Amino acid sequence: MSIAAFPATIGAMATIEELKQEISSLAAKLESAAAAVDSSQALEAFRVEYLGRKGRVAELFKALGQLPPEDRATAGKLLNELKSRATALFTAREEELNRAVLDAQLERERVDLTLPGTYHPLGHLHLLTQVQAEIESIFLRMGFDVASGPEIETDYYAFEALNIPADHPARDEWDTFYIDDTHLLRPHTSPVQIRVMKSTTPPVRIICPGRCYRRDTQDATHSPVFHQVELLWVEEGLSLANLKYVIEYFVHEFFGPGYEMRMSGDFFPFTEPSVQVHMRAPGATEWLEIMGAGMVDPAVLTEVGYDPEAVTGFAFGLGIERMAMLRYKIDDIRVFLQNDLRFITQF
Ligand code: DAH
Repeated sequence: MSIAAFPATIGAMATIEELKQEISSLAAKLESAAAAVDSSQALEAFRVEYLGRKGRVAELFKALGQLPPEDRATAGKLLNELKSRATALFTAREEELNRAVLDAQLERERVDLTLPGTYHPLGHLHLLTQVQAEIESIFLRMGFDVASGPEIETDYYAFEALNIPADHPARDEWDTFYIDDTHLLRPHTSPVQIRVMKSTTPPVRIICPGRCYRRDTQDATHSPVFHQVELLWVEEGLSLANLKYVIEYFVHEFFGPGYEMRMSGDFFPFTEPSVQVHMRAPGATEWLEIMGAGMVDPAVLTEVGYDPEAVTGFAFGLGIERMAMLRYKIDDIRVFLQNDLRFITQF
C-alpha cells in the first residue's frame, strides 16, 4: 500500500459522507496493518505511513478545509478519533515488540543455576609461613621487634664479626655456597645480630626470621635450604637465667603442655657459655635439636662497639622447620620444599 495512490480521492472529496467513508476504510486498514507489524522496521513503516507528517491521517486532516464549515467540527472530531486509534495501535505494537525483544534476550542469557560451577581452589599460606608468623607474634607480644637482613651475606657479617676468623675450625660447619671470595649465601641468621647492633644502641630486643643455606647432605632432618629465627636481647644485667626463661616461655606458648625441653652445653664462637636445646614431642622417643643459644660473647659486643662491662646479652638461633615438625608430627624435613599438594593442603 503506497501513500501516493491515496490522496487522489481527496481532491474529489467534498462531503462529510465521503470523508466518513474514507475514515472508516482507513480505520479498517489501520487495524490489519497494525496486526501485520512484526519487526521494528515494519513498525517504523507503519508510523510513517499512517502517523507521519505526510501520512494518511495527515492527508485526511488536509481535506477538512474542503468541507462545508458546519461539518468541519464533526469531521475534526472523527479525524482526531482516527488519529488516537492509530497512535494507540502504534504504541501497543511497539510495546509488544519491545517485550518480544526482551523475552528473546532473557531466553538467550538465561543462567541455569543448577549447572555445576567452575571450581577455583583457594590457596593458603605454606605451613612454614604460618609457623613463622606464629613465632613472630609470640615474640612481638613479649616486646621484641622483627628485624631482617640479606640472604647474600659478606664474610665479615657471617663469620668475622661473630668471632669466627678465617682459620677457625667452626667455619667448616657453616662454610657454604660462596658467590665470590667475600660473599656467600648466609648459613645462619646470626649475621643480623651484628647488623642490628651496629646500627642501634642497647637495649636491643629483636628477632629475625629468614632463609638460610648449608652444605648439609639432605636427610630426614637436614636440608640445604631451611629457615631460622634469630633472637637477640642485649641490655644491662641479663643472665643465662633470663635466656632460659624466655625459651621456656616461648616453648610453652608455641607447643602448649606435654612437650619436654632439654638444655645442654655446646660451643659457638659467638656465645659464652653456649647451649643447645632439644625437644621431645609427647609420646615420642627421639629428641630433636631446635636451637643453639647462649650469652653473647664479649668479643662480639666489643666488635659492634658495645661495652661488655656495661651490658650483657643472650641470643638464639631456632630452626623453623624443626618447630613445625615437632608440632605437626612431620618426620621428614624434605616435604616442606617438595610442593606436594597432598602435604601442603593438610595445613
Ligand atoms: N647460628 C647458629 C647456627 O646456625 C645458632 C645459634 C647459636 C644462634 C647460638 C645464636 C646463638 O644466636 O647464640 O647453628
